Amino acid sequence: MTRLHRVALSSALLLQSLAFASPEPCLNGLCHFTRNKLASRTVASELGPQLSKNCNVYGPDDTQFGNCTARYDPFFTPKIQMVVQPATEEDVPKIVQYASANGVPFLAMARRHGMTSTLSEFDGMQIDMSLLDKIEIQPDGKSAILGGGVFAKNIMEKLWDAGYVTSSGSTSCVGLLGPALGGGRGRLEGYYGVVSDSFLKLNVVLANGTAITVSETEHPDLFWAMKGAGHNFGVVTSLEMKIYPRGVDTWYYKTYIWTQDKLEAVFEASNAFHNDGNHAGHHLKEMAFNMGSYTMIPSISETEGVIFWSFVYRGSKEEAQPYLDAFDAIEAVSTEDGNVPYPDIPGVSGTGMNSALCDYGLNHVHYPAGLKVWNVTTQRQIYDLYNEKIREYPEFQRTTVNMEDYSHEGVDAIDPDTSAYPWRDRGLLSFIAVTYDPNPALDEAAIAWAQETRDLWNAGAPDLLPSTYVNYAHGDESAESMYGYEPWRLEKLRGLKAQYDPDNLFSYYNPIIPNMNPRSTHESNFQGRQIGAKSKSRGQ
Ligand SMILES: Cc1cc2nc3c(=O)[nH]c(=O)nc-3n(C[C@H](O)[C@H](O)[C@H](O)COP(=O)(O)OP(=O)(O)OC[C@H]3O[C@@H](n4cnc5c(N)ncnc54)[C@H](O)[C@@H]3O)c2cc1C
Ligand SMILES: *[C@@H]1O[C@H](CO)[C@@H](O)[C@H](O)[C@H]1NC(C)=O
Ligand SMILES: *[C@@H]1O[C@H](CO)[C@@H](O)[C@H](O)[C@H]1NC(C)=O
Ligand SMILES: *[C@@H]1O[C@H](CO)[C@@H](O)[C@H](O)[C@H]1NC(C)=O
Repeated sequence: MTRLHRVALSSALLLQSLAFASPEPCLNGLCHFTRNKLASRTVASELGPQLSKNCNVYGPDDTQFGNCTARYDPFFTPKIQMVVQPATEEDVPKIVQYASANGVPFLAMARRHGMTSTLSEFDGMQIDMSLLDKIEIQPDGKSAILGGGVFAKNIMEKLWDAGYVTSSGSTSCVGLLGPALGGGRGRLEGYYGVVSDSFLKLNVVLANGTAITVSETEHPDLFWAMKGAGHNFGVVTSLEMKIYPRGVDTWYYKTYIWTQDKLEAVFEASNAFHNDGNHAGHHLKEMAFNMGSYTMIPSISETEGVIFWSFVYRGSKEEAQPYLDAFDAIEAVSTEDGNVPYPDIPGVSGTGMNSALCDYGLNHVHYPAGLKVWNVTTQRQIYDLYNEKIREYPEFQRTTVNMEDYSHEGVDAIDPDTSAYPWRDRGLLSFIAVTYDPNPALDEAAIAWAQETRDLWNAGAPDLLPSTYVNYAHGDESAESMYGYEPWRLEKLRGLKAQYDPDNLFSYYNPIIPNMNPRSTHESNFQGRQIGAKSKSRGQ
């Protein structure tokens, strides 16, 4: 670790070194000059004196570096030259200014669950937001101030204990802003909409290092954009979010495991449950979220995937039962149910801190599709393909095919034009994650399987334009499929990019405007990097 010493250098020296470092304005991707190979010690001595005392700078030789850069999904990895950890919000503009002045690309990260191929184009400074973790409930009990590095588990627990809830992703280990800047899907969307629908105010550091506040009344166009396309516009150092009374003390959950002969019955029941995608007046917000997967459970079968499904209900078993009768009627291998407080719901539905879903370090080659109904024929085709591939590639047996069905009242209640999140009409979200120990020899087969599965979903929904929830994107999808097909949406987003990020510095996470200088084509600064089969999957 290189602790930063305020006294290390006089500010005159610092300014001199910066001036020397960057003799001309360096536009990202266009400059001839970058100090990207700066040693972390140099960064610490140059940038350090400007930062608050608990900041850290780590380089590849520091013991903490591995811990700060370990990724959920190593398949598409950004190349990290150094990690800077701001300890206060005021540090962030200084870090961004320093990175820009030195031509060093930068990227904010919280929980490192980003899994899109476009992250592979990054080579530069990770701004690790994890020390910015405050959660402060406001005295009126209507909102909370949250740091830019908070994550789902902490928010759920801290608010619940104080009598509140707010929207977040469904998985305990995932950051808040990673999901929320792309909309954010979670168990409370039936009540309060997608996660970004609860934003009140964002404190944002723009590409030029200027800190601004973004809300309904301050920079309202940017506020619109950051609710759905926010990864493209700035670093969020903190935000104010609406919070809500927590409601009932326990939620009811029930999980089922079915063998494949029940597949048609399960998806027919599921379509009836969500009224064939017609949410109005039907899909109860209390019946918050259900999701299923095709998965291998060797104790049931070593050759055939099973169907796992989990329902959660904000209320009692008695209230939930009428909705579950149809599923109880399908004979299951096993079921499990119970009542637990909301923060314990992830733990009992497969999305908790200790679940396989939260393990770091395995490849998850994924493709998503947004749907309205389950096409039962398609679901069977995808299941058969699953068994076939697991037989052919035993290395892939931790693969899951995932189907998510969110309650929708709160999402439908919001005018779709009021945010950059374009997919309010797609209640169902599905994705495959071909899962295996990193092994380049298998990458091509993994990509092909994942793509084929996504294509089957889309072919099974001939009336829908293919949609991609931006946070589940593989990274090679069209901007329209992520940010919306209505031409005004991308026009507006591109206009805002010209205004707020003219040099496209925020272009590594499913960018609106593609990065023109991916590291794989940038000669001397980006040596020693193997992207191989992975980078080939990018491109339209
Ligand atoms: C196991 C798992 C479960 C998931 N569950 C859900 C879910 O329930 N709901 C859902 O909607 N999505 C979910 N996702 C998808 C998730 O939204 C994305 O993977 C998201 O990018 C993860 O955010 P992170 O903070 O963990 O990752 P990071 O890799 O740290 O961040 C991802 C990106 O977000 C941006 N970012 C992060 N913090 C900031 C900040 N403070 N300011 C500006 N930009 C920032 C950066 O562009 C960064 O590259 C899940 C993903 C995984 C792997
Ligand atoms: C990494 O950091 C986390 C959180 O600070 C800590 O719990 C864990 O033990 C660390 N792991 C290593 C290998 O240092
Ligand atoms: C289901 O998918 C098939 C293609 O596999 C398609 O021909 C059919 O129209 C789809 N059904 C519906 C109801 O969309
Ligand atoms: C930074 O960009 C914003 C938005 O374009 C602009 O309002 C502000 O003046 C810029 N600040 C500086 C220091 O250039």
